[in-house]
Formats: sequence, C-alpha cells, structure tokens
Amino acid sequence: AARSYHSRVIDHYESPRNVGSLPKNDIDVGTGLVGAPACGDVMKLQIRVDENGIISDVKFKTFGCGSAIASSSYMTERVKGLSLEEAGKIKNTEIAKELSLPPVKLHCSMLAEDAIRSAIRDYQSKRAAMKDPKKAKGFIDVTQSVITGETVATAHPG
Ligand code: FES
Repeated sequence: AARSYHSRVIDHYESPRNVGSLPKNDIDVGTGLVGAPACGDVMKLQIRVDENGIISDVKFKTFGCGSAIASSSYMTERVKGLSLEEAGKIKNTEIAKELSLPPVKLHCSMLAEDAIRSAIRDYQSKRAAMKDPKKAKGFIDVTQSVITGETVATAHPG
C-alpha cells in the first residue's frame, strides 16, 4: 500500500538519508550549491563519480523547510548508482509526486533538481579542466588542488 504524504515526508524529514559532506576538492566530487529565491533556503548536494561515470556516493546539507530536506534526502537515494545523464534528467515533478508535496511546496523540490544539476556541472567542469587545460579557466587551481589538496577547485570550461 502507498504510504501517505504525511508518513513519507515525515520519514525523510526525521530520518534524512545521506546527510553530510564530501571533500569538495576531490577531483571525482561534484558540488552543487543552490538557493531558492522564494524563501532563501539553501541546499548543498555533492556526488562522487566512479571511473565508469556512475554516481557512487551522495551527500547533502539543506538549510530549509521540511519539504526541502525531504526532497534532498529523496534525491540522494534516487541518484545513487545512476549515470550522470540519468541523474540529470530527474525532474522536481517526480520528487513532488513521490513525496506528494502540495503545490505551494513545489519550489522546495525544485531545489533538489537544481542541486543535482549543479553538482553534475561542477563535476564535468573539473573533468574538462583536467582533460583540456587550454579550454578551461581555473586549470591551475585544479592542478594545485590535486597536488596539494589545498586549493579550492574552480574550473570552468572555456
Ligand atoms: Fe523554501 Fe521549502 S519553503 S525550500
């Protein structure tokens, strides 16, 4: 039997999965940091990608309402084991449906969609910088971070 809106959101809210952080300077980690203009809530979602391009680990930290926390928790479970392409296709409407969010809470699920896309873009720009330094601003920073582990990697494909 399907669980009610109440139990499902409350479950993800009270026992959020995959709360925490991954080391953002790691070259196989992508970090998404997004905010909701409507309310000022903020979500950080990080992915670790294995050598086959599969998301092997996911962590999040959300400073926001219960629906945003539930949405990010749901998203972390949903994307683990997926390719970047598959993960990038997940829509907030799926999350809203799964958690039975009311219309007024749609923007909370949108944060989770924005966050996974932002994390994927961050990962891809790091990889692009590693492969083709000429095309990427910030390659030096990435190199330094790999060698010393000190510098924040800010790579942007040219
Ligand atoms: Fe803003 Fe939920 S009220 S993310």
